[in-house]
Amino acid sequence: MKEQVQVKKFLDSPPLERLIPEALQESLGTAVIGRRIIVLESTRSTNDFLRQMLTPDLPEGFVVFAEHQTAGRGQRGNRWDSAAHQGLWFSILLRPKIPLADSARLTSWVAAAVAETIRQQLSVVPLVKPPNDVYIGTRKVCGVLVETKAGAGAAFAAIAGIGININQPLEAFPETLRERAGSLAMAVGGPVDRQTFAVALLRELDRSYAVKF
Ligand code: BTN
Repeated sequence: MKEQVQVKKFLDSPPLERLIPEALQESLGTAVIGRRIIVLESTRSTNDFLRQMLTPDLPEGFVVFAEHQTAGRGQRGNRWDSAAHQGLWFSILLRPKIPLADSARLTSWVAAAVAETIRQQLSVVPLVKPPNDVYIGTRKVCGVLVETKAGAGAAFAAIAGIGININQPLEAFPETLRERAGSLAMAVGGPVDRQTFAVALLRELDRSYAVKF
């Protein structure tokens, strides 16, 4: 009972812990994905921020996290609700050696890596709902938005945007989403350490990217 009260209290007012880019990067060692990481306090959308930064020299694996997005975007022009400090909202720069026409493979790869990380870290069984959603039970906990930009010749850059609901209580979601949105904390009944989860996910993304692309 005491534990339940504590969990409820936490979910009502999760702590404002911050992602620490240096610690993330150090934990990842020589990985390609996460070789450079920045954490913004707030931006409109990490996909838009990364697209604006994009130059031919920006290295593959560059990652931009934001603690808060004021205009997070989802598929089909939908808004992506990005509560401050309660989720992982980030974008990764990729330069995959595949035809642009096959870029949908990137979306499935990200969704599968998120699901695998949830399974390994939290011992719950998520479900990938193709092409870009990850569910736990009937609740969506993650969405993926991959956008591409043509480069020289056949080369192209891809911005893989990932939104994962980590520590929101149900009431943190807009009323219109409360029936179908969920967070990892809601699924496991207690707080989830965002930094630890982010490291595990970036490792899994790095490992599987090297195998698939
Ligand atoms: C969806 O399910 O419709 C896709 C949601 C993608 C949200 C992420 S959050 C980080 C990145 N920045 C954005 O504006 N969108 C993606």
